[in-house]
Amino acid sequence: MNVHARALAKAYAFDEQTAAFAEDVIGHLAQHPKHLSPKYFYDATGSELFEQITVLPEYYPTRTELGILRDRGAEIAAIIPAGAALVEFGAGATTKVRLLLEHCEFGAYVPVDISGDFLNAQADGLRKDFPGLRVYPVAADFTAPFTLPAEIAEMPKVGFFPGSTIGNFEPHEATDLLRTAREILGAGAQMIIGVDLEKDERVLYNAYNDSAGVTARFNLNVLVRINRELGGNFDLSAFSHRSIYNRDRHRIEMHLISRKAQSVRVLGNTFSFRPGESIHTENSYKYSLERFTELARSSGWTVRQSWTDAAKMFSVHALVASE
Ligand code: AVJ
Repeated sequence: MNVHARALAKAYAFDEQTAAFAEDVIGHLAQHPKHLSPKYFYDATGSELFEQITVLPEYYPTRTELGILRDRGAEIAAIIPAGAALVEFGAGATTKVRLLLEHCEFGAYVPVDISGDFLNAQADGLRKDFPGLRVYPVAADFTAPFTLPAEIAEMPKVGFFPGSTIGNFEPHEATDLLRTAREILGAGAQMIIGVDLEKDERVLYNAYNDSAGVTARFNLNVLVRINRELGGNFDLSAFSHRSIYNRDRHRIEMHLISRKAQSVRVLGNTFSFRPGESIHTENSYKYSLERFTELARSSGWTVRQSWTDAAKMFSVHALVASE
């Protein structure tokens, strides 16, 4: 914890995570343009809303990636050494990892996620369905260096980073993240990573502006969370959801737009909004196979093999650590 977060933790009796959330919210709402980190979407309600997003007719990424993992699971498994430890970066629902576990004899599964409670529940479910699988959850923010469990020290390492979560990061941050993953996993490591692809703009637009309004609720939920955890007084009806495709930067941008001039208070700070002013809440970068190959190369990885669905909507890549 840095000095600001420590002061907040002390003043408000926050735990470490809430103090970090508070510090980010206060810092980022004071900036121009205002922004918030998409990692804060995922409280219990946000995680549930995201699960609902993944089955929306317009939201193609999850079902397309699952299709690739299902169709190509055996091929993917064939390049994974027996007894390897599978280290998943950000472990949400276990649906995807199960598709790999069904095909490979892993020495261990190491889900790494900031939410410890969720992790332990998922780990129990997997232990039940894959008796004999050793599961070592690590409660950590995978965007910062973390230590792997000692039990897997001697096993070959395979990273697993599905869901195009990499798309949430600025390209330079994505490079740092992949480089850190390379360092954590060590020489000889491999990585299986899911990456969403650039495509028809209408398809992209609709995936983030679903007709049922679930993405809008997901976006607005970060304000609900600020109100609840940080005592904020955001009026939800005074903000609206907006997602656009930024073609020049190859990314979907999500924003919360202030419908009027207003001020909002959070932990003794006042933030003023002009009518139409945005809080930029998420970027979701879309890659071409070439741009992703280059990103991997510049972060210490070589693309060994890539798979896509027939319509080239989504991609899964096997990377090997470059020497
Ligand atoms: C979990 C980051 C892959 O960018 O598509 C879905 C999050 N945001 N709808 C994505 C999200 C709005 C999602 N990722």
